[in-house]
Amino acid sequence: MVTRFAETLADPLMREALAMQGIEETRHGRLLAEMLKRYGIPVDVPAQETLDCSERAFIDFGYEECIDSFFGFGIFGLARQIQLFVPTLTDIFEYVLLEEARHVTFFVNWIAYERIRRGRGAMAVQALSTALGYVRAVKRIVTTFAPSGGSKVKGVGFGAEGAFKMFGGVTWRSFLQSCVGENDRYLAAMDAQLIRPRVLPAIARMALGLPSFGRRPVVASSPSA
Ligand SMILES: [Fe+2]
Ligand SMILES: [Fe+2]
Repeated sequence: MVTRFAETLADPLMREALAMQGIEETRHGRLLAEMLKRYGIPVDVPAQETLDCSERAFIDFGYEECIDSFFGFGIFGLARQIQLFVPTLTDIFEYVLLEEARHVTFFVNWIAYERIRRGRGAMAVQALSTALGYVRAVKRIVTTFAPSGGSKVKGVGFGAEGAFKMFGGVTWRSFLQSCVGENDRYLAAMDAQLIRPRVLPAIARMALGLPSFGRRPVVASSPSA
């Protein structure tokens, strides 16, 4: 989707940047496909012809990546702490996550640039558009992972469904601390002049500022476990 959307851009520099993201996403896709095959996990992959490659789809994907990467950083941070994966596997994902940090950084800068270019750069307009973008993304993620699963709206990002089952004693607080800490760590590698995704880290920091927030385990311990 990213590769096809890149091909529609007139600005050669933007086209080149997006094409690179397309190459990286394709590589992530191949890596995940290989892992799914290796572990025998059946997954429905949407046919390429049905993919929406419009600007709207890319914007939806961008906001989803902002959410997915923030929580993904946190989950992998926890996985590293408890040495859930062998180090060679963790090392591979270190590159993937660094690339994701670059994608979300690119996205928030690209969309701010595009809004200014189209005369929609006023602070209030940007804030409203960003809020709407996140609401749309959350709706798509929730719809994708809803138990009914029969909706037409499908997110294309990588979600965290089931990931918590691996972390028995983890509290919401320690999970969010991992998200904030790892998010800071990956984004620190980006050029300091660039803007960064700010919405989720700000909400998470606010929640962590409340002393009573998230002391309960993410996964309730089951009596049979
Ligand atoms: Fe990716
Ligand atoms: Fe990405």
